[in-house]
Amino acid sequence: MVKRIPVVVAMALAAVLAWQPAAAQTAKARATAKVDLEARFKEAQADPKLADDLYKVGRKVAAVCANCHGEGGNSTKSSIPNLAGQNPAYLLEQLRQFSDGRRRNEFMEGMIRAMNSDEKIGMVLFYAAQEVTHKPATNAALAGKGQEYYGKICFRCHGNVGRGNELIARIAGQQADYLRVTLKRYRDGTDVRANSIMTPNTKNMTDADIEAVVAYVSSMP
Ligand code: HEC
Ligand code: HEC
Repeated sequence: MVKRIPVVVAMALAAVLAWQPAAAQTAKARATAKVDLEARFKEAQADPKLADDLYKVGRKVAAVCANCHGEGGNSTKSSIPNLAGQNPAYLLEQLRQFSDGRRRNEFMEGMIRAMNSDEKIGMVLFYAAQEVTHKPATNAALAGKGQEYYGKICFRCHGNVGRGNELIARIAGQQADYLRVTLKRYRDGTDVRANSIMTPNTKNMTDADIEAVVAYVSSMP
């Protein structure tokens, strides 16, 4: 795991973030100091012109994130999550969790400190609009077991097709190693990523259950 922002990435981020279209500059001025991300997001949802400007800011920011999260948010590393197709409110909530220490990852915490609110909203709008690349299951029997487990518990919140909703994470097509590590963190109640909803829903999972569910969920389109 990278512990510090590599210099190249930090410089690329600084360069990208320094460039803003004129309309976004005005928006940026309004977004300085303390802006409630939620309120700003609602504003963008109600104003197509603003949403479009912020989307473009987000697309620029995403060029830096692509180093790890892949082009258009389809990660090519199994340990790094896809951001493509992710639900906006979930993404904003994770930014808040990295910022206030409920979720720990030194690199991501630094990255988020370097972004202003419009860059955050822009990034969310950009990634939510990207398509997830489908990866078929490599072990159909294992994925079948996972589907059974999924159909008993996980579907209740993440939905039959794994895409969650405005508030709950999309997990369909998520990277396998990332899913495995994340489920174990929730189950084991680590302080890296604790969650009062996911911990009770994973506490009875054996490692074998997790393997099966990971095989299924990572192959969902
Ligand atoms: C050096 C690699 C790296 C770069 C560059 C990077 N990230 Fe990440 N990001 C990670 C890793 C690793 C995780 C998973 C952290 C964990 O939970 O273990 C992550 C997690 C996330 C998550 C949570 C995803 C989820 O499904 O919960 C978001 C959101 C995110 N990153 C946004 C960004 C944005 C936006 C950028 C660009 C401004 C960015 N990241 C740049 C490595 C990176
Ligand atoms: C009662 C509702 C509920 C149920 C049931 C549930 N989840 Fe979740 N899940 C959530 C919520 C809420 C979050 C966001 C937690 C957070 O912010 O860390 C989440 C987050 C996740 C994440 C992290 C997504 C990411 O991108 O990092 C994964 C993976 C996940 N759930 C998988 C599962 C699996 C597998 C099951 C079944 C064993 C399951 N969930 C059952 C509500 C639920």
